[in-house]
This record gives sequence, structure tokens and C-alpha cells, in this order.
Amino acid sequence: MTDFTLFLGRFHPTFLHLPIGFLLIAFGMEIFSRFHKYAHLRYSVSFVLFFGTVSAIIAALMGYFLAKEGGYNEDLLLIHKWLGIGTAVMSAFLLFLRWRMNNRPELIFSKSYISLWLMLILTLTFAGHYGGSLTHGENYLTEHLPSPLKQMAGISQTVKKDRKKPENINEAVVFEDVILPILEKKCQQCHNDEKTKGGLKMLNAETLMKGGEHGEVFKAGNAKESELFIVVNLPRQDDHAMPPDGKEPLTEDEIKLMGWWIDQGADFKKKVMEHTVSEEIAKVLGVSGAPASAMKASVPDILPTLQAKPAENAVIESLRKQNIDINPIANESSFLQVKINQDLTDQQLDALQKIAEQITWLDLKRTNISDNQLVKLKNFKNLTELRLELTAITDDGLKHLETLTNLQYLNLYGTKVSNKGLKSLGQFPHLRSVYLWQTSVTQEGIKELQTERPRLKIELGLDKIALDSLTTKKL
Ligand code: HEC
Repeated sequence: MTDFTLFLGRFHPTFLHLPIGFLLIAFGMEIFSRFHKYAHLRYSVSFVLFFGTVSAIIAALMGYFLAKEGGYNEDLLLIHKWLGIGTAVMSAFLLFLRWRMNNRPELIFSKSYISLWLMLILTLTFAGHYGGSLTHGENYLTEHLPSPLKQMAGISQTVKKDRKKPENINEAVVFEDVILPILEKKCQQCHNDEKTKGGLKMLNAETLMKGGEHGEVFKAGNAKESELFIVVNLPRQDDHAMPPDGKEPLTEDEIKLMGWWIDQGADFKKKVMEHTVSEEIAKVLGVSGAPASAMKASVPDILPTLQAKPAENAVIESLRKQNIDINPIANESSFLQVKINQDLTDQQLDALQKIAEQITWLDLKRTNISDNQLVKLKNFKNLTELRLELTAITDDGLKHLETLTNLQYLNLYGTKVSNKGLKSLGQFPHLRSVYLWQTSVTQEGIKELQTERPRLKIELGLDKIALDSLTTKKL
């Protein structure tokens, strides 16, 4: 393939309108010449048909060059190619006949000659139709046909059923709800069944896993070495940049999401919840996971007003031996932050009673703490931050926290807390923020709590608007 033939090939889609125009006009003239008023037209048909034939041959040749570039659906291409060649051959044949006929009406009006014309027009129409499908996709023409008409025409309604968007970003399947919509918007126009540029289809999990003509397009767990991620990061003017220069590029957020998805293993089924969500990604997804300290709440910080005497070093040491993570919250502070790992025991909770006064941050996330065990926190008067996310805590457990009047930050993400439990949250006078992402709390519940405690920051970690904006397709 020389550059010049490639150059010519690109003109096929424009040039092909010439043979279509000439051939239709020639056919029209042939028909109209039957009427007395237009009888003179018959003398010009060969002239127009000549240009139709020549341009049809040129268009077919250009089409041949264009096809060499590749990236088209093979089956459709084969049909289109032969219909195109057929059009050129048939018009040449008709032209030949027409010359031989010498404008004699009895021959021109013969049924067999007119049938040949009809065949040519039919071939031309189908060639055009398949050509359109090659460039625009198979149901391009009928895509916006009203559905009753579609039914009448027997066109299968393959319009993809949109999956119901998850109510909660956390429930969103990363590939299907976050990544695929990006591909649909920015990549699929060239990487689909009909047009398969680079041998790559990006329609679903299977086609993506199959990769392109150079093999795999992603390496699960390693975005930096994944073709898919590399090409969207190339400078816009790079020949391999995707989408190619001139098309709407991915936004920074979309690139971040794609990198994140691949780095997290490029899984096609897992939900957001089953991925590690960094703060950066959380921001893009609209998931709030920022630590309380980073948050500007309108409820004032109570910690500076609290006081406790320092705990004895020996006590702290003995607790550390029981697998409890203890540290002062700041240099010179007598307040402590405490963290317990997965397998929390009653003994550990009992041991903590010795520093009940000093504990101000308590991290029990992902532990097996039960509702009943929460009773053991009742003396932690200076507790301001309590993390219970991803535990089996329910509304019943929350009742045991009533005595923690200094609580400012409560993380209940991924627990079984419901609207009922929210009622007890209203009791904490200094509460600044509460995390309710992935609980059974409903919008109504939130609304009620918010009315009661307007300055409370309720973090749902669910920004439906953010998800919608990520996944709404431009139609
Ligand atoms: C306007 C058409 C067009 C769009 C839109 C487009 N591509 Fe491509 N793509 C191509 C062409 C043409 C090739 C083959 C030539 C090349 O590699 O530069 C290709 C090749 C590729 C390849 C290499 C496949 C292989 O194995 O060689 C990858 C990966 C790719 N595209 C990814 C993407 C991604 C990701 C998007 C969306 C962000 C996208 N493309 C959007 C036209 C397009």
C-alpha cells in the first residue's frame, strides 16, 4: 500500500455519491422518456450513463484501497465489496447495451432491458446500505425510528437494555457502571462489530479480553504496562493517541478511573465496594472517605476543651502486649488513639477500661465487635472519634453508645444500621459527622436527622449525581 493509494482510499466515502447520482438520473431519464413531453431525454441517457459507469468504477477502486486499511467487519465488507463491483459491472453492461440499441424505442422499452435497470438500482441501493452499515454501524438508519414503526418493519429492538443504575455508588459494578460507559462514549465508535480499528472491539468483557491485533490490551493489576491505559495518556498529537486526535479525549477523571480499574485487577464483576478506593478515586467517584480531621464541620471541635490525666506507661505497655495498638494523638498529649485488629476479644475490651478516660480516638473497623460488646465503651467519656465501619453493628448496638456525649465523629459505613438507629444519633450533642455509606439508611431517614441536626455532616459516600454524570451517555 503506498501513501498515495491510502490517500485515494479516503475519498471513497465522498466520491461514491457521484455514481449514485449519475446512475439514478440516467434511470430517471430512461423512465421519463416514455412520456411524450420528455421523449427527447432518451438521446442523452447514454451520455449520463457513461459518467455513471466511469465514476462507479473509480469509486469501487477507491473502496478497494480503503478496505486495505482494515478495521472493518469482514462479513459486511465482503458483501459491500461485491455489491459495489456488481454496480460497476452492471452499469458498464447497460452502457454497452444502450449504445448497441441506438436509441430505438422498441428496444429501450423492452421489459428485459428495464428489468436490468431495476437490478442495477437494487444492487446500488444495497451497496449503499452495507456501506453505511460499515461506517455507521448496522442499525444506523433505523436507530431513531419510533419503536412502533420498528416493530412493523420487523427490526429487532436490539437497543441495549440499560442496567438499572445502582442507588449507591458502592454497589456499582466498576466495569459495567463506570468503565464501560466511558468506552461507549469515547471508544466504541471505532472499536465495534462493524468497525474494528486495530482489530480491537471494546463492547464488553469478552471482546476487551480478546484484545487487538497486537494482542492483549491490558495487564490486570498494572495500568502502566497496559496498552489501554498507555494510549489514552499519550500526547494528543501522537499517532497512537486514543481516541485519535480530533476526537473528544478522555477527561483526567476518566483516565484516573481507567488506571484505577486496571491497577485493581481489571475485574469485570466486582463492585466499587470490593476495590480499594483511594482518597483520589473516592473524590472522582463522589465517595467521601476523608478523615474527620480534614473535614470542615460547622460543629466546633470539642477535643481542645477536654481534659484527662496521662495514662501510666506500664499500663500502656501491658495493653500493647495484648495486641492493642496505642499511641498518643499528638506529642505531649495525654489523649490516646487506640486501634484493635480483626479478632477483637472481650479481654481486650476489658483491658481498655484502664485507659477509658484517655481514649479519644477508637478504631474498631472491620473487627468482629458485636452489639453487646459496645456496652463496654460506655465509660469512654472522652471518646470523640469512633470507627465502626464494616462491622456487624446494628441499631441495637448504637443504643449502648448513649453515654458517649463527646462523640464527634462516627463511622458506620457498611454496618447494618437503619433509619431506626439514626434516632439515637440525634442524641449526641457534639456530633459533627457521621458516615452512613452502605447502610440501609434511606433518604427519608437522612432528611429527618438532618432536620433535627442541621449542622451535622452526613456522609453518604454516595454521590448519585457524581455517578450519574460519570455514566450518562451522550446520545
Ligand atoms: C476515531 C476512531 C477511533 C476512536 C474513537 C478510538 N480508536 Fe483506538 N484505534 C483506532 C485506530 C485507527 C487504531 C489502529 C491504529 C493505531 O494503532 O493507531 C486503533 C487502535 C487502538 C489500540 C491498539 C490495538 C492493537 O492491539 O493494536 C488500542 C489499545 C486502542 N485503539 C484503544 C482505544 C481507546 C481506549 C479508545 C477510547 C478512549 C479508542 N481506542 C478510541 C481508532 C480509534
